[in-house]
Amino acid sequence: MSTKIRRIVAGVSGLAATAFLAGCAKDAPQDTWQPKGTNAKTIDDLQQPVFAIAGVIGVIVTCAVVYCIIKFRDRGQAMPEQTHGKPALEIGMTILPALILAGVGVFTFRTVFDLSKTSDTQMVVNVTGQQWWWEYDYPAQPELGITQPIITSGQMIIPVGTKVLLRETSRDVIHSYWIPALNGKRDAVPGRVHTLRLDADEPGIYAGQCTEFCGLSHANMRMETVALSKEDFAAWVANQLTNAKSPAEKTLAKEGEGVFLNQCVRCHQVNGLKKADGTPAIAAPDENVWAGAAPNLTHLMSRNTFAGAAFDLLSQKCRADVWGASSETVGKKYLAGVTEECLNQTDLRRWLRNAPAMKPMYADPAKLTSTNGKYRGMPNLGLTEDDIDKLVAYLSTLK
Ligand code: CUA
Repeated sequence: MSTKIRRIVAGVSGLAATAFLAGCAKDAPQDTWQPKGTNAKTIDDLQQPVFAIAGVIGVIVTCAVVYCIIKFRDRGQAMPEQTHGKPALEIGMTILPALILAGVGVFTFRTVFDLSKTSDTQMVVNVTGQQWWWEYDYPAQPELGITQPIITSGQMIIPVGTKVLLRETSRDVIHSYWIPALNGKRDAVPGRVHTLRLDADEPGIYAGQCTEFCGLSHANMRMETVALSKEDFAAWVANQLTNAKSPAEKTLAKEGEGVFLNQCVRCHQVNGLKKADGTPAIAAPDENVWAGAAPNLTHLMSRNTFAGAAFDLLSQKCRADVWGASSETVGKKYLAGVTEECLNQTDLRRWLRNAPAMKPMYADPAKLTSTNGKYRGMPNLGLTEDDIDKLVAYLSTLK
């Protein structure tokens, strides 16, 4: 081999290896090779041997091709003898791959049917995608302590060791729900209900993200599934079933409640919130938001991310403490919610100041104010710094 060719081969191999190894990470939160639940393990049991077989075949074929390219390259030699047909080899080369594919097919079908089973469901959550966040609606399930429907967003809470059935749909375009540690992905399609099974072996926070391109902030449409012990889950449910309490008179938070009633309640529901005249404040996001929904904020501080799980409600230090917790302690730490010391004020304030600047929502900034009179995502409300101080104080009370 000439030095030049050697250099080219070495360079190309180096680049390929770099690209390949750049995909490696230790303890990556969305690593599909580290299953943490029955369904993800079922998928893993299929993909490991298939990858191994395909890998071996890939190596053999690549080596054979490279060998032939080098060994039989044109050196000006005479044309070799031309032959046609070798029935034994041709039949063998057809039957062998067919057998391998049939074998893979049998196991794939079995896995597909296993994953689509719904007969062993122990809990149901209705999951709705919209640009660019996920809403979780728990229908009443008294046997699980869910005596009234619960609505939350960003983070879905499930009890460990429980077969949860997600009933997915979408309010606008097609999205796709994927928590790699717990199962494969399933599209959320407007006008349809698709089911996806999830269960987690042990308590923890499992990250995922929308995997169907759904517009400008597709990459910011994240989600987390938080698995809690049955006891911690019961505590979470009990808290979610309570209404928000109005802050004490003459506090900054009380003034914030006023700002919220003026500005935010048009789209965001806070259960238990009352207008100045004592009547319940009911949000009407369908009048203002393209998708017809905005996150319910009754228990905002019980989750640790906001804006479609794109930003942390916890400061960096507190986040590391909760997300890095062992399976024994993560539940209690999660249930502590966002305390005053832990609140990521910087990002929350930036969001209240100008949400579209943090999460792209329109291609044309001139359309930021409205499209057909409706917003896509949270608009810039033009709040004063004073209002933001008050709002942050009020939002902090929504435990
Ligand atoms: Cu929702 Cu991509």
